[in-house]
Amino acid sequence: MTERRLLLVNGPNLNLLGTRQPEIYGATTLAQIEQRFIEVAAEHGFDGRVVQSNHEGVLIDAIHDARADCAGIIINPGAYSHTSVAIADALRSVDVPVVEVHLSNVHAREEYRRHSFVSEVADVVIAGAGPAGYEYAVRYFAAKLS
Ligand code: DQA
Repeated sequence: MTERRLLLVNGPNLNLLGTRQPEIYGATTLAQIEQRFIEVAAEHGFDGRVVQSNHEGVLIDAIHDARADCAGIIINPGAYSHTSVAIADALRSVDVPVVEVHLSNVHAREEYRRHSFVSEVADVVIAGAGPAGYEYAVRYFAAKLS
């Protein structure tokens, strides 16, 4: 494991951030979020790796790959949070700490968004902070791994 690498995983539909329901998810694009993540990670001495996919298996493969060389996983699984035992099991199967991030406050929305399979595996859950949630996740790892 490389102590100073963090993996940022974004799930389905998050590639459309900026234009997708901006009243809920804001105007920041995924490219901006990923760039900021890499900058904040670097400020804390981490190499940042990013992946986004609309496909469950691609996300699972990226999680498996993190086992080899990542000190932490920051994941916004999108709607897979609420449906995917497979993604939760992948996170369970790798010995890498996890921070789950949601841009919106999933607890203040529809009932079906209140349960996340991933939360059962996550060390930390951040919801409702917007794009800043990803930065808070990096700061958590900076403190935890210092
Ligand atoms: C989300 C919340 C999910 O319920 C939703 O399906 C998303 C985005 C969030 O970041 O707030 O795709 O994970």
